[in-house]
Amino acid sequence: MFRSILRRFSTAVKTNKVTQKIKEIRSQSLLGGGQEKIKIQHEKGKLTARERISLFLDEGSFIEYDMFVEHTCSNFGIDKRKFPGDSVVTGQGLVNGRPVYIFSQDFTVFGGSLSTVHAQKICKIMDKAVLVGAPVIGLSDSGGARIQEGVDSLAGYADIFQRNVLASGVIPQISMIMGPCAGGAVYSPALTDFIFMVEETSFLFVTGPDVIKSVNNEDVSQEELGGAETHTSISGNAHKSFKHDVEALLQLRDFLGYLPQSCNHPAPVRACDDPCDVDVPGLDKIIPTETSAAYDILDVVLSVVDEREFFEIMPNYAKNIVIGFGRMNGQSVGFVANQPKVAAGCLDINASVKAARFVRFCDAFNIPIITFVDVPGFLPGINQEHSGIIRHGAKLLFAYAEATVPKLTVITRKAYGGAYDVMSSKHLRGDVNYAWPSAEIAVMGARGAVSVLHKDKSDVTEYVNEYTEKFGTPIPAAQRGFIDDIIEPRTTRWRLCRDLKLLETKKLTNLPRKHGNIPL
Ligand code: HXC
Repeated sequence: MFRSILRRFSTAVKTNKVTQKIKEIRSQSLLGGGQEKIKIQHEKGKLTARERISLFLDEGSFIEYDMFVEHTCSNFGIDKRKFPGDSVVTGQGLVNGRPVYIFSQDFTVFGGSLSTVHAQKICKIMDKAVLVGAPVIGLSDSGGARIQEGVDSLAGYADIFQRNVLASGVIPQISMIMGPCAGGAVYSPALTDFIFMVEETSFLFVTGPDVIKSVNNEDVSQEELGGAETHTSISGNAHKSFKHDVEALLQLRDFLGYLPQSCNHPAPVRACDDPCDVDVPGLDKIIPTETSAAYDILDVVLSVVDEREFFEIMPNYAKNIVIGFGRMNGQSVGFVANQPKVAAGCLDINASVKAARFVRFCDAFNIPIITFVDVPGFLPGINQEHSGIIRHGAKLLFAYAEATVPKLTVITRKAYGGAYDVMSSKHLRGDVNYAWPSAEIAVMGARGAVSVLHKDKSDVTEYVNEYTEKFGTPIPAAQRGFIDDIIEPRTTRWRLCRDLKLLETKKLTNLPRKHGNIPL
């Protein structure tokens, strides 16, 4: 009797001690690298890893994993510095009620550097995300490989890269760069579908300013080399930037609303109050009467989408093409549109690559594509030719040609030459191809054509007029069935909404194969 009471008492004491210890570890983990480091993080204008997660996810929805994990390295005495959870916070939560997996690197612990266990934590949530079919969101803020761990850290990166690649096209993977991301570490975000950056506090580069100075003797600041402006406007490595952490995370929540959970889910549909069965008269006035005058294709996109809401991707890079997400009668849709306001909407290398990757994303994730065409052709020039416009232009052609999602095309004005074929033409299995009455579908513009056909003539006005009359209209293409109909611009929105509804049950698959060979 006495023994049994004693046993129960000592078990209770032990349980109490364990509970106390668990509590201590949890509260230690919640503090990351400690108050002093958190203060420094805030002074830099950055939120902590946990603050970012709680702002991003629906309130109270975060379920954390691996809070008790500690690094296992003893080199350089770091076994005396252990932080429960190590330098990354991982888990799962909801965004507007939909599950996501998330990792958030904790700069307050060893500068967010990647240890073996840090990598294992990320790999664990990636594996779970693939199993259930949910996006992975990575919030990067890290000094790169944990220097003390040497090759173990490099192995950890490679484990993540391998997963990034296998998950590509299966679940959406999104990177938000919110601090340093340097060296080989950049390649995990680079393998994901979208990279967003926070202005002034984030940077991405393979080799930093010091190495560049010592190897190339070039002077460059961190910001100039790999800041948000550089990557969103010059290199095209990042898709968009935001002013600060809060804006970035709230926008990311909105952005996720356009994406399906995985390639096995349909694109999301949201309740829509914007009428989709009425004309939009403003569309009739957008195309200028002068055929070479510029206009803003965004006016067309905004007039067609629900509530004039459009999430533009890469707005500052290759501005001669516009890409982004909108909704049509609540259905998430990817838009690609030549921008006549910039370089007359010509297709060049950067525009081709920008749009090709977007088309492939939409196709991988069952998001229908609407294409607005006003393109005078591929950009001529020695630089473009020598830099590989043939190969890069072929990427866009390949992307459209292999895409099996619903493809709707509206030619608003010019559709010249090879660019006509490329831009989701009927010949590349466009499901519905419309032209506005202002459309000109031809091998090239009238002046160019006449200069080839009548180069010996001094007065070519008559020939230009003849060519314009013959090809400066959508009629020849419509007569051949390459255009399904010539429509009044004001009817575009309701027609596209109606077509999308009809195409919901579209089923098209490509020939079985290991994989295609897009011209990289
Ligand atoms: C271990 C690191 C670390 C790292 C930073 N810290 N980077 N610890 N491994 N890679 C630690 C610092 O020692 C410091 O520890 C704390 O994090 C904060 O760092 P600070 O330097 O004080 O911060 P800050 O001034 O803001 O500078 C941040 C930084 C700088 C620019 C990221 O720390 C830096 O240059 N770190 C090294 C970056 C680097 O070269 N990484 C390896 C890249 S190669 P205490 O104890 O003082 O708090 C790579 C290969 C990957 O990543 C290959 C994959 C294929």
